[in-house]
Amino acid sequence: MIILGIETSCDETAVGVLEIKKTKAGFFINPLSNVIASQIKIHRKYGGVVPMLASREHTKNIPIVTKKALQQAFNSEKSIDSKIDLIAATKGPGLILSLLIGVNFAKTLAWKWNKPIIGINHLEGHLLSFLLPQKAENYQLPITNSQKIFPSICLLVSGGNTQLIHVKGIGKYKIIGETRDDAAGECFDKGARILGLSYPGGPAIAIEAAKHKKQNTAYTIHNTQYRFHLPRPMIDSKNYDFSFSGLKTALLYLTQDIGPKKVKKYCSAIAYEFQEAITDVLVEKTIKAAKELKTKSIILAGGVSANKRLKEKFQERLKKERLNIKLLVPKLEYATDNAIMIALAGFFQYIKHGKKSLSWKKIEADSNLKLT
Ligand code: KG4
Repeated sequence: MIILGIETSCDETAVGVLEIKKTKAGFFINPLSNVIASQIKIHRKYGGVVPMLASREHTKNIPIVTKKALQQAFNSEKSIDSKIDLIAATKGPGLILSLLIGVNFAKTLAWKWNKPIIGINHLEGHLLSFLLPQKAENYQLPITNSQKIFPSICLLVSGGNTQLIHVKGIGKYKIIGETRDDAAGECFDKGARILGLSYPGGPAIAIEAAKHKKQNTAYTIHNTQYRFHLPRPMIDSKNYDFSFSGLKTALLYLTQDIGPKKVKKYCSAIAYEFQEAITDVLVEKTIKAAKELKTKSIILAGGVSANKRLKEKFQERLKKERLNIKLLVPKLEYATDNAIMIALAGFFQYIKHGKKSLSWKKIEADSNLKLT
């Protein structure tokens, strides 16, 4: 079947077309187009997403992005509606002003074309994105042999969410831990702002941190020895929850202590320690959950899963402890927000619920939608 995916939960207007079918061996999956209009340049000067601006950009971009995605997928504009079997649109969680644009656009298409439509939880899209192949690859989904993957623990780390999810199978999710304040991506973004780096903060901090070569060095600044050590909040707590706002405050105090000139001079060393602090906590808590719940795999999902150091640390840790746990990571183009992951989640929802009750009249945006 051919699924049109639509995603506007935050600041990316994304539309994609996915071909997917059940085969004897499992599933054949072929992303036909994956178009994303990024708003990074618009929000950069504010150091974060401004909801009103995001909504205005989505309104402007969504017809253009949709047209491009359909053209790329079908090489023609003729009778496109007859080629689409299902529409899948993100209905939450996210910024309500952004969600409303995608949901209403998708509903209008479903009404006009008389197609079934499914509202998707953005987080389920991220969670399943490790299954997506690169464009134009014929591919058998690894879930064909799902007993090798599930039960799994998913570390979902994006700009708005940090959660540990116990995944017993596709569609069988239980959130076992989450952040009590800032999300990991948000922490990267706010930390970058404190250090005078650009938005989005995750990639900016990763690039700056990679320049730092002399680890564990002490620096004498204003007659005081600094090692730039930052806290690892809740790393030893008995639960699976996270907290990142204290780390951000510790970074702020450190920068105020040494002053802007020294922050600039030692920026890479501080960014390195900041990235180490965030990734140490994420790895520690996820491995603890994987061991306690005896999972067969660890799934990384969300924008922060693009972080090279995070992936490296997971690999090192699994190797060091000789844990027979697979690390499943989305390809870089599917780590951050995209519509192909929404189309994929739409496919599994469709299998679960069938065609009935998939009317455009039943879908509403929900900014606080929970993963169940
Ligand atoms: O999943 P995503 O694209 O959007 C949300 O749904 O939130 O995630 C965006 C977040 C931003 O906070 C960004 O700083 C972070 O992902 N991010 C990274 C990296 N690339 C993106 N964080 C750390 N390292 C990266 N390489």
